Formats: sequence, C-alpha cells, structure tokens
Amino acid sequence: MTLPLDLIPAPLSAEHRGSAPGHVSLDGRTTLDAGPGTGTTARWLRTTLGAATGLPLADGPGPHAIRLRIDAEVEREHGPEGYRLSTGTDGAAVVIEGGGPAGVFWGAQTLRQLLGPEAYRRAPVTDRGPGLPLVTLSDRPRFGWRGLLLDVSRHFLPKDDVLRYLDLLAAHKLNVLHLHLTDDQGWRIEIERHPKLTEVGSWRARSKWGHRASPLWDDTPHGGFYTRDDIREIVAYAAERHITVVPEIDLPGHSQAAIAAYPELGNTDVVDTTALTVWDTWGVNPNVLAPTETVLRFYEGVLEEVLDLFPSPFVHIGGDECPKDQWKASPAAQARIRELGLSGEDELQSWFIRHFDRWLTARGRRLIGWDEILEGGLAEGAAVSSWRGYAGGIAAAEAGHDVVMCPEQQVYLDHRQAPGEDEPMPIGYVRTLEDVYRFEPVPPGLAPEAAAHILGTQANVWTEVMENRARIDYQVFPRLAAFAEVAWSALPAPGTRDYPGFERRMDTHYRRLDALGVDYRPPAGPHPRQRRPGVLGRPLEGTPPIV
Ligand code: ACM
Repeated sequence: MTLPLDLIPAPLSAEHRGSAPGHVSLDGRTTLDAGPGTGTTARWLRTTLGAATGLPLADGPGPHAIRLRIDAEVEREHGPEGYRLSTGTDGAAVVIEGGGPAGVFWGAQTLRQLLGPEAYRRAPVTDRGPGLPLVTLSDRPRFGWRGLLLDVSRHFLPKDDVLRYLDLLAAHKLNVLHLHLTDDQGWRIEIERHPKLTEVGSWRARSKWGHRASPLWDDTPHGGFYTRDDIREIVAYAAERHITVVPEIDLPGHSQAAIAAYPELGNTDVVDTTALTVWDTWGVNPNVLAPTETVLRFYEGVLEEVLDLFPSPFVHIGGDECPKDQWKASPAAQARIRELGLSGEDELQSWFIRHFDRWLTARGRRLIGWDEILEGGLAEGAAVSSWRGYAGGIAAAEAGHDVVMCPEQQVYLDHRQAPGEDEPMPIGYVRTLEDVYRFEPVPPGLAPEAAAHILGTQANVWTEVMENRARIDYQVFPRLAAFAEVAWSALPAPGTRDYPGFERRMDTHYRRLDALGVDYRPPAGPHPRQRRPGVLGRPLEGTPPIV
C-alpha cells in the first residue's frame, strides 16, 4: 500500500519509498543545517514550521537535520526554482536541494504539505512530533510567472490581509502578486510629492452594494491606503517568500480617484473636474487623464516613488478600458493629437503608453500593460497581460512580446463558481473548480517561437463585490489551488489533466485550508453566512466564448 501524498500542485515526480508514515519524524532533536544561500528558507522553517510544531529547530548538522542546500546539478536539470527533496536518506531526516534559493523554498513548502494539515496551524495542536513519509521527489515549475492579481482599489485590503495573501501564495508555490493599486474608486499607495492622492483619493463616502445595477448602497465610508513603510514591509515579506510584487498604476483610464484629488489631471475643458469625487459605483468610467505635459510630469513623479519602493523588473501601467469620448470632445486633446501628428484618439492612448515604456526602459525596468496597449501600436519592449481572451496574447507573442495569460473567460476569480441562487452577488460566467483546473495558458496551435513568449499565467481578483477578506477568500478558494497546479505542474501531454485525481487530493488540501483559516467555498455550496441574499450581481449565461 502506498499512502497518497496529496501534494498540490502536483510535483514532476515522486517516488514513495514506504508504506506507512512516521519512518522519519521531526522532534526535539531536529536541527536545521542551512547551507549558503538558503537563509530565507531557514528563517521561514523556523518561524512557520517552528510555530506549527513547537520545535526549536536549532542550527546544526547530523542525522536529525533538515538539510538545505543549493545544488548546481539541480539547477542544470530543473532551473533555479526546481528542487529535489528526500526524507530518511543520506544521513539526514530531510534533504532539500534547490537549483537556487527559490527552489529550496518551494521544497520547504512541499515538506510542509508532507507533514500534514496540522503543519498549517500557528501553534501545535498535539504533542506528537509530526511524522514524514519516506519519499524522494523532483520538481520544477512549468512557468516562471505564476501570479495572482489583487484589486485593492475597489475595496481596500488592509496590510495584514495582504501579508496573509503572500503566505497563501507561497503555500501554493505562486510567485507573483500583482497589486492593482489605483482605480476610479480609490488610490491606495502613499506618494510623498502628491499627498492628496491618498488624503483625498483613498476615501469614498459610500459604495454601491452589489453590481452597479443594484439599487442598494453601503453608506459606510470606505477607504485606506498603504504608507511607504507598509509597502516596504509587503515587498520585503514577499521577497522572503520568493514572491515578486508587481505594482500597477493604471493610466490613462481608471483614473477618477486621482482626478478627484488633483482636478488638473482631467480633461478640464469638457468636464468640471473640481466637482468629481472618488467614484462610489462600478463600471467603465469616462473621466480619463488629459494628454498634457502636466499629466506626464505628475505620473513620472508617481512612478519615481513607485520604482523606489518596488524592485520588480516589471511595472504595470494598466492601459485598459480608456473611453475616448472626452478626448473626442476636448479641443485641447484634439490640438494635442494634431501637434503630435497622431491619427486619432487611439494613437493618443498609445502615445501615453509609449511615453512610459521609454521612461521605464531608461530606468532599467519593463512596462507591462493590459492587452488594449496593442491597439494603435504596441510599445517596444512592453509585455502584455492578455485579459480579454487569448487573442491579445497570441498577437503580442507572435509579434515577439512577452505575455502573461489571464483571460477573463477562464481565470477571473470574481466570476461565479457555480450556477444557482446561492452564489453571493454572482458575476460573469460559471467557472467551476474543474474549469479552472482545465485552463491551458498556452493557446493551442501557437508556434513554439511564440509560445516561448508566454511568461506564465495569472488569476485576477477584481473586488467590486468583495467587501472584505472573507469575500475574497470565498472567490479565490478553492480555485486558486487548481490554478496553482495549472501554473506549476507540467502536463505529460496536452489535455491530460486528471480532474478526479485532483479532486481526491483536494480532500487533504481542504484540511490544509481549514488549518490556515481560509474561508473557501465548500464543495456543497456556500455556508449561510457566505450568501448575500437579495443583492444583485451580474451573472452571464452559457459557456464563456474562448476568444
Ligand atoms: C480589466 O479587467 N479591465 C483588466
């Protein structure tokens, strides 16, 4: 008999060398033997696994050690994020050899899974030392970009909840947190030189309760922002977990909160921007940035501070859903189009994007934007988040641009996860756990040279109808577990995902999520407290068109 390991995401290979748990156990003698470059993992094991097990995990080698090493051969075979893990071999309790520091860390995440759901608690619930099965496994990620977007603008997610999400990403071997920091409904990052962005732009008087067609309002004022030190803490906490935080400053659309704070940023010749407030409802907003030098200088100042805080090679500048009505009506915008020799408003949008592409490139960073940045000419060197389906990503990849696949039809986790009246504020198409599990990030038929530009994939969580962390948990889990496997685990051949096998492994994974305190959607449907009876969503019927 072999015991199921129930690892999620599934590893590349696992050899199970025994029939019962407990051949190797962690106890008061267990030490940490951390080689050069493995400090993040040693710290994480001591704090997180140490808390769950109550074990001191003192430094030192020996037969009871958890041995952490960086190994050149593992790097050659599996890359810097790959690892080998074995228990009860080579004169140690556990050996984790990573291709690089990140590989060692992902190996430690696997070790935690092998220790059982109790290893996900913050204090021991038993005085029995945790037992380990005898295993040897090799593993590596399929994609280098395995991301989650959190929209912290529509509803502010307090800093502690962001840190908790970083832990949840790490537990699923995801390595990118894309923070959507600005939108019409709130500006969430302190910018020293423009203090009104948060003094004014991070607060709204009330919020639409439900989708925008809902007649209901939540009259509780809403808002909040991250200070510079909050951001530094988030970025450092992520780096300790080998996660990159990609900041998004959305322009030239999705900008009403910024315009409410600084009315001169808007199209003042067509709208009284001094009368604008931070938006309190949802949808695509007509109040976009004016194409002026003042606006360019303002956002360069914003981005200078963003670059100071975020070491990420990629900086996301949005570029999505920018209605052109105000530019069409604005004599100033029309004069700008003529002066720049542009063909029209679409090119004006490209001009905005190209400006910041050059600006970021000159500072050693790379621009990433939503697939609308393809319209009117794609900026050089820019990468694309393909959200409106596969098409933008295919066009970008075929033109030699890097792509992150996040099609709304498949991996927008705000979309409802079951049919029926019980889903809270149901949005979009039904995308079940199985649908997400079967998502394929590389579009079928893409030529290999183009496919090489698919950096990876990302699940996006837009929070219009998620007023707090519990609602986010409900939408994100359990589907993020399926997504993690899509992003991490290579398939032997296309279309070979074994959903029944995944569901079986999920039995154990739900117990891990329970121990972590994740408020996931139970397989049988929402708990009563997870429902929102009578609050309108916007469900779409049928099967989503895959475009
Ligand atoms: C988007 O969903 N507007 C990127």
